[in-house]
Amino acid sequence: MTKSSSNAMWGGRFASGPDAIMEAINASIGFDKRMARQDIDGSRAHASMLAAQGIIRDTDAGAIREGLLTVLSEIETGSFEYSAALEDIHMNVEARLKEIVGEPAGRLHTARSRNDQVATDFKLWVRDQLDAAEGAILSLIGGLLDQAEAGADWVMPGFTHLQTAQPVTWGHHMMAYVEMLRRDLSRVRDARVRMNESPLGAAALAGTSFPIDRDATAQALGFDRPSANSLDAVSDRDFALEFLSTASICAVHLSRLAEELVIWSSAQFRFVTLSDRFSTGSSIMPQKKNPDAAELIRAKIGRIFGANTALMIVMKGLPLAYSKDMQEDKEQVFDAADNWMLALAAMDGMVRDMTANRESLAAAAGSGFSTATDLADWCVRALNMPFRDAHHVTGSLVALAEKEGCDLPDLSLEQLQSVCAEITQDVFSVLSVEASVASRTSYGGTAPVQVRAQVTRWREILA
Ligand code: ARG
Repeated sequence: MTKSSSNAMWGGRFASGPDAIMEAINASIGFDKRMARQDIDGSRAHASMLAAQGIIRDTDAGAIREGLLTVLSEIETGSFEYSAALEDIHMNVEARLKEIVGEPAGRLHTARSRNDQVATDFKLWVRDQLDAAEGAILSLIGGLLDQAEAGADWVMPGFTHLQTAQPVTWGHHMMAYVEMLRRDLSRVRDARVRMNESPLGAAALAGTSFPIDRDATAQALGFDRPSANSLDAVSDRDFALEFLSTASICAVHLSRLAEELVIWSSAQFRFVTLSDRFSTGSSIMPQKKNPDAAELIRAKIGRIFGANTALMIVMKGLPLAYSKDMQEDKEQVFDAADNWMLALAAMDGMVRDMTANRESLAAAAGSGFSTATDLADWCVRALNMPFRDAHHVTGSLVALAEKEGCDLPDLSLEQLQSVCAEITQDVFSVLSVEASVASRTSYGGTAPVQVRAQVTRWREILA
């Protein structure tokens, strides 16, 4: 029926096959074979629906459904032979189905187009990735909670401008990342809800005259409902964009923790020791232990956000409905998904394996006049001083300590009184870092009681 040199699926009106360059630019099988399972799930649901609606015979649908399982097992065992001439996963699967079951295979594509087919397959693929991301984020949150619980009262310097600001607790710092990941998790779940409408049955762009049941295929594939506009259904890639932007924001968070681990594991900081399992050595400097995993996680945002930008630009200005431009969506999403999952898993491993160096953290916590704010607050509370005056007095005392080459708690009462005569012995109760963090009991504050309360709250959420 079709000429042998032209495409068996759409070559009816073509006298010759494509130029080799045309085939090279057109074929997506090299990457969209990753959607084979989703394609076969979608086709099996479609075949069942066609039979239930009396559009094809039950025996044909049965042969199609069985044959598709054979194709799937060939793909999974690696015996399937992909063909670039067949362009994409959709036509590769259908062509093989034809070889296996013969004539009924030609009935599968009734009331369907590759346009709704690819939108459906890709959505199913992205949805699986959102589910995987949810699990990976929850696991990382678990690792951070363990760290936070162990070090709920370990003091460390808190920074602003990467300058010592006020003492905080290790647990509090870990819990800050838990909150970032909580927001990532909610974006993942939110994106999943919004994307979960089935494009299948939108056909090429206008719907179909066959009496299909879109609710049935939507339900069979785990969608909440069919999408309500066929033009939108085949041209919508919001779900991919939302996946990429969600991944990008999460990757920003991972990159910030990664950067802290790089800094903290340096010889100058020694706040943490990364495990051998998540470090590498240098081929020339025997003493080196490099935080490569953290550095690579820090860098992953580059390609993930790059994918987000790339697909935004592909989609920008595209007229309705499907355009082949949209085939450029998949490699971006595949690459971003792979690297997001890898970054989450590597961070999870690093966080669970790392050891916080309690002594180094405590030593650093006390340096840099980190309790200056506590001193000023004491002047406000004990001496009823306006905060601005207290700030000034404390500044003078910091200058004095700097001149003496000591920290604030090392100044004598006489030295303190030389700047402000009203200061009493009681002030020393707030100058230690332990007293400082213990006093910050406001909701969300760094006090160990607050950190433990947040850890408990999170354990309950996760249980
Ligand atoms: N490989 C194509 C893609 O990924 C499938 C849809 C092709 N549709 C078409 N009308 N040529 O977008």
